[in-house]
Amino acid sequence: MSSCQAWRSSAAHSCVLVALVCVAALCLVSLVREALKIDGVRDKCVLVTGCDSGFGNHVARQLDRRGFQVIATCMTEKGCSDLEAAASPNLRTVLLNLTDGASLDRVVELVRSVTGARGLWGLVNNAGRSIPIGPTEWMQVEDFKKVLDVNLIGMIDITLRLLPLVKRARGRIVNVASVMGRVALTGGGYALSKWGVESFSDSLRRDMRAFGVKVSVIEPGFFKTAVTNVDLIEADLLRLWNRLPQDIKDSYGDKYLENYVKAQSFAMSILCSKDISKVTWCMEHALTSRYPRTRYGAGWDAKLVWLPLSYCPTFITDFVICALFPVPKDTRVVGPSQVDVSST
Ligand SMILES: NC(=O)c1ccc[n+]([C@@H]2O[C@H](COP(=O)([O-])OP(=O)(O)OC[C@H]3O[C@@H](n4cnc5c(N)ncnc54)[C@H](OP(=O)(O)O)[C@@H]3O)[C@@H](O)[C@H]2O)c1
Ligand SMILES: *[C@@H]1O[C@H](CO)[C@@H](O)[C@H](O)[C@H]1NC(C)=O
Repeated sequence: MSSCQAWRSSAAHSCVLVALVCVAALCLVSLVREALKIDGVRDKCVLVTGCDSGFGNHVARQLDRRGFQVIATCMTEKGCSDLEAAASPNLRTVLLNLTDGASLDRVVELVRSVTGARGLWGLVNNAGRSIPIGPTEWMQVEDFKKVLDVNLIGMIDITLRLLPLVKRARGRIVNVASVMGRVALTGGGYALSKWGVESFSDSLRRDMRAFGVKVSVIEPGFFKTAVTNVDLIEADLLRLWNRLPQDIKDSYGDKYLENYVKAQSFAMSILCSKDISKVTWCMEHALTSRYPRTRYGAGWDAKLVWLPLSYCPTFITDFVICALFPVPKDTRVVGPSQVDVSST
């Protein structure tokens, strides 16, 4: 080997070594940053919406055990009493229907009196609904509104009302979106609402940055809770199908609903994880870490399938999503005034 070749190969080795050391150092720094926690949890108050069941119920108890002063909002009296029975006396519950202005007024008043000059450390916007969800053509505009009014307008409403209190605490806002806020897997208001949660959170994060308020978005994949309950979704799909005009039903074919429901149940049975602590871990991290992440993907399906799919070119995303659902029987569009030449 000439001395020139030897020099080149040792330079290449040094470059690789330096690159490896840099990557290792970056990983270490981000691990340490992720692990740094805030202090004074016991003096901090956190409000979580939608605590009757699912993620909200789980995280309210988790934050209570962690020492936070939790205000958990529920839809029903039973939701409130069951949660109080399962938590410490520090946890307060309050009824909240996000689409009811008077109910919002009462909750804001309560939060103001409980938090006083400290302000509200955390607002976890978790409440939401998925139904009606299904093929776009089966929907009426009211079906979209039912979901958008809770998941998006309701979430914006409570956030704007509580923002002055969060600002006072230089606190945190944690918004539960979904992988459906990144890829629209089905029609109806759900994906739209979560898309809205994503962009509302982005603008809020930038607008509140100077005031020390941090905004995080949680993007869960599929988890076994009431929003992914296939029996409830199927019952509502049947309602949508039954009110369709006959010519639209014919264009899908009489087996379509059955096949659609089968495909959905099959996909949900594979995808839905029972371990909802994966989601509540993200919520707790966003509230307790000194450097919370902007986005948290929760669940293996989110990390390995849906979030990567959201970065793919549209033709790939469309191919994958269309493959999940059955194809309507009659894919030619034959309107009542057109002559279907193939049948003459
Ligand atoms: N499970 C998943 O796979 C998944 C995936 C991604 C994102 N998410 C999101 O995670 C959040 C929590 O859902 P979850 O899966 O834990 O389901 P969940 O058990 O149904 O929790 C949703 C909660 O929101 C409440 N809620 C519904 N409408 C409301 C309203 N108008 N005002 C106030 N509260 C209302 C529900 O009360 P009622 O039960 O009385 O209706 C329920 O307590 C939702 O935003 C959902 O979109 C879930
Ligand atoms: C929530 O409030 C809206 C508006 O007042 C009302 O129409 C709806 O029935 C309420 N939902 C429940 C479950 O009480």
